[in-house]
Amino acid sequence: MSRILTGIQSTGVPHLGNILGAVKPAIEMCRNPAHEAFLFIADLHSLTTVRNAGVLRENTYSVAAAWLAFGLDTRKTTFYRQSDVPEVCELTWMLSCLTPYPMLANAHSFKDKSGRLAEVNAGLFIYPVLMAADIILYDADFVPVGKDQQQHLEITRDIAMSFNRAYGDTFVVPQATISEQVMLVPGTDGQKMSKSYNNTINIFLPDKELLKVVKKIVTDATPVEQPKDPEKCTVFKLFSLIAGKTDIEEMRQNYIRGGYGYGQAKEALYEAIIEKFKKERELYNYFMRDKNELDKKLKEGAEKAKAVATAKLKLMREKLGYKS
Ligand code: AMP
Ligand code: TRP
Repeated sequence: MSRILTGIQSTGVPHLGNILGAVKPAIEMCRNPAHEAFLFIADLHSLTTVRNAGVLRENTYSVAAAWLAFGLDTRKTTFYRQSDVPEVCELTWMLSCLTPYPMLANAHSFKDKSGRLAEVNAGLFIYPVLMAADIILYDADFVPVGKDQQQHLEITRDIAMSFNRAYGDTFVVPQATISEQVMLVPGTDGQKMSKSYNNTINIFLPDKELLKVVKKIVTDATPVEQPKDPEKCTVFKLFSLIAGKTDIEEMRQNYIRGGYGYGQAKEALYEAIIEKFKKERELYNYFMRDKNELDKKLKEGAEKAKAVATAKLKLMREKLGYKS
């Protein structure tokens, strides 16, 4: 059976774009009985940018609660917090010593910031090595990632292959599974929904706050009575991603006919979000209220991951000349 593994950045509450574009498809993939899945929250990577313990901790919980709320089955998927398996840090050091400096200096994640070197910490520089360790520690065969992570996967393969050459067959050389972004969820300003554009919709917000965000969606100034082009409207685009077929068709006709305002469309979108994600919103809030339950699930995942990691690290120690 092949093993798939991927890491999720812990940058806060996943927004509607993350959920439709990443969380739901990944959970679907984890359900495939042909694979064994490992999924972890990359909270050690977060330390390269997050400087607040409360924020770091809370981000991890929000991500975990969202994935669980959307149906991640922890009996089938090994779901854990990266920092709960610190063996990965020991492996990172070992791999760092075998990684040529120029390979890391060429990584986009570092190179993009090379004009502002004073702001770059050493963690950011060896970020790709920690990522390689995340993957090869667990002998992952396939790593589903976005295009932006392709170079990191190439670095991972280089590291695994050069280790195998130097010390004999030790690591599985993983393959990236690059998802050509099939879905593009627009944000409240019509651009791609993204945390960095400040245009996200957090579907887990309390009703009133969620309605406020939906009301903020930018539309043009066509008066209520005039016909409108549904394909050019962000409210309609979002509604199409969430509502059922008949409701979408009805809204389309309302737009074309005229006498239907953007305010009404926003109300309908809000209702659709509430209805579509009723169960997930409840579950998310349940988990966020009961962090013990979250900790328990993450701990169970960490134990499963740790068993694999410990065995691999023992082998590594022997190969490198340490007492295992
Ligand atoms: P990010 O935190 O922006 O790197 O997003 C994590 C993952 O969520 C990405 O790899 C995408 O697969 C997905 N994603 C983010 N934003 C969107 C969006 N606006 N539409 C669809 N998918 C998205
Ligand atoms: N760097 C990845 C990102 O920014 C997250 C990540 C960390 C990861 N370790 C990983 C992804 C291992 C896949 C495999 O999205």
